[in-house]
Amino acid sequence: MLTVAVLISGTGSNLRALLDAASEPEFPARIIVVGADRQADGFAHAEAYGIPTFMVPYQEFDSREAWGDELLAQLDVWSPDLVVLSGLMRLLPAAVVAAWAPRLINTHPAYLPEFPGAHGVRDALAAGVTQTGASVIVVDDGVDTGPILAQERIPVLPGDTEHSLHERIKPVERRLLIDVVRRIATGELDLTT
Ligand code: GAR
Repeated sequence: MLTVAVLISGTGSNLRALLDAASEPEFPARIIVVGADRQADGFAHAEAYGIPTFMVPYQEFDSREAWGDELLAQLDVWSPDLVVLSGLMRLLPAAVVAAWAPRLINTHPAYLPEFPGAHGVRDALAAGVTQTGASVIVVDDGVDTGPILAQERIPVLPGDTEHSLHERIKPVERRLLIDVVRRIATGELDLTT
């Protein structure tokens, strides 16, 4: 059984979907802990499933590196097989990437390499494209530049707002994320090759 730590910053709706999937007896992975860089609303989903949580509050550290060292210490406590960034809105320090990649994956609300960064949905709308997408990638030292594990196109509709477009992207992200975690757990997807 693949053990998974999920890191979030916000509402954790994608986390919720992964928790729902992982609660099915036949799903080959289990979420063992949920961490965040702040008091994230998404902790409520972990609590609803009785999953432990930890917080490493970014604002309380003098540097990104110091924050990353504490994040590493927390992850060491749980020693998951896989770390999933599901809406963690922080760039990870190089030491965290070095310690966990390629067992460190991220969901992103755009069709990478298009529109990387913190505002993938807003940037796609601003660019006036007619389609964007959702991606699941391995985290590397760049900003959303790692190997792509799964992605899918999503149309931008006339009148879309950042919110309406993001809400259409998220269900696709959830499906891709759940499928990637399942394929990693079964060995169908080998992150080390
Ligand atoms: C998701 O769309 C995720 O891809 C995005 O934040 C959202 C979190 O939603 N992450 C990024 O943009 C990272 N660059 P959620 O908290 O409802 O799951």
